[in-house]
Amino acid sequence: MSTAIVIFGASGDLASRKLIPALYGNFRKKRLPENTGIIGFSRTPLSDDSFRENLREALVKFSPAEFDQGIWAEFARNLYYQIGNIENAADFRSLSEKIESVAASPEVCLYYLATAPRFFPIVIASLGAAGMIRETKPAEKRRIVVEKPFGRDLPSAVALNQDLHKVAEERQIFRIDHYLGKETVQNLLVFRFGNAIFEPLWNRNFVEHIQITVAETVGIEHRGGYYDQAGVLRDMFQSHLMQLLALVAMEPSAIVEAGALRDEKVKVLRGVRDIPEEAVARFTVRGQYAGYTSEDGIDSRSRTATFAALQLFVDNWRWQGVPFYLRSGKMLKEKLSEIVIKFRRPPLQMFDTQAGVTELSTNHLSICIQPDEGFHLRFITRVPDGGMKIRPAAMNFHYRESFQISSIPEAYERLLLDAIHGDASLFARNDEIELAWKIIDPIQTGWESEQAPPLLPYRSGSWGPSAADELLWRDGRWWTQECSAHTE
Ligand code: BG6
Repeated sequence: MSTAIVIFGASGDLASRKLIPALYGNFRKKRLPENTGIIGFSRTPLSDDSFRENLREALVKFSPAEFDQGIWAEFARNLYYQIGNIENAADFRSLSEKIESVAASPEVCLYYLATAPRFFPIVIASLGAAGMIRETKPAEKRRIVVEKPFGRDLPSAVALNQDLHKVAEERQIFRIDHYLGKETVQNLLVFRFGNAIFEPLWNRNFVEHIQITVAETVGIEHRGGYYDQAGVLRDMFQSHLMQLLALVAMEPSAIVEAGALRDEKVKVLRGVRDIPEEAVARFTVRGQYAGYTSEDGIDSRSRTATFAALQLFVDNWRWQGVPFYLRSGKMLKEKLSEIVIKFRRPPLQMFDTQAGVTELSTNHLSICIQPDEGFHLRFITRVPDGGMKIRPAAMNFHYRESFQISSIPEAYERLLLDAIHGDASLFARNDEIELAWKIIDPIQTGWESEQAPPLLPYRSGSWGPSAADELLWRDGRWWTQECSAHTE
């Protein structure tokens, strides 16, 4: 029995920076099934050996700490290359033969779509036409992994889902959102539902509001062409931020199983209140970092937003009236992904705060997704020898310290293994993707209308336009970066 993994777009960045390092990581940890053959498929003419050498160089460059020449040599024996044009049906026949020669009658075949998204429909259709997704025996598993972006709006996502469903069943389709493979994101469910003490508080009676920040220090790097067409809402909110929102707000599922978990996430997304065009200026902020229009591949008159902050509501019994503030942007002060649950204040402020302490007695729980993965629970304590003065303190848990590990596994390691084993829990289902677009599309349309909020410039290295602070201040709230306080 054997496994074949085919990477379409194998000479691209994603394959060398993420996919191959993740497969190598799994091989090193002896987690890849025995007899796994990995075949890169792309138009660039390459021999197996030069393909291996390119990937070796990339691994040394991007993951030097992981690299071990001996292990690499063993791993590289499983790497193969097949030249081909995805627009040419005959090349799929050659690919099929290559798969047979590398892994005779493989039990599992995983097709990874790592090409530019405009090629997804043609690869999907060609795989279907070549019969490469058909499962002829119960033990035979054929799966397609689709990278993001999954569409650029609701109609294109629906069309892509239809293309997929013409050739494959939903259980064979794995839509990647690499945030779901991050350790802390996975731990969010364990934290919420594996402990009994937080869940009773996790609702509108005790939670005042919730913040989700995904901040990046990098700009658009070498992806100007893609990014200028996408912008921050499509690039980050439709996928990563919506997934975080769903996980933090969902109900417990009765069992830990892909279908049940995804049903609960879908219910949350369905409950997110629309922001109609006339309200976009009130509930959203958009910004563009200074210098963006001089970046490579960017139109000098571009109006693409690289920062957004949104105020959303989830209309259900648990969350009615609780604001969810989401923000994300490029070129910000820190790389930081964090969820903050702000609890209600005590009904009466009985004690004096210590001089200089401005953040009054709110309890909050910070879930730090990266870079310093952990949790921080903030509470109020009495200042020693200070009469009845109070100040905030925190209980902290850091992954690396507590488990004495120097690095957290890359999200792709876990996701690739799950796809090989057919566990779709950490992948997005068709309805999740479509619902997320249903939330984002009206905002994007509003931003293109006369009712749009101004596109505000912001300084690189700042926290974005000050209007994003104003979004909270107007209701007596403020953004909190508890995790960065602990990494400084
Ligand atoms: C990708 C976006 O999905 O996520 C990128 O397309 C972004 O623009 C990246 O930089 C962020 O991922 P991470 O894991 O570095 O937070």
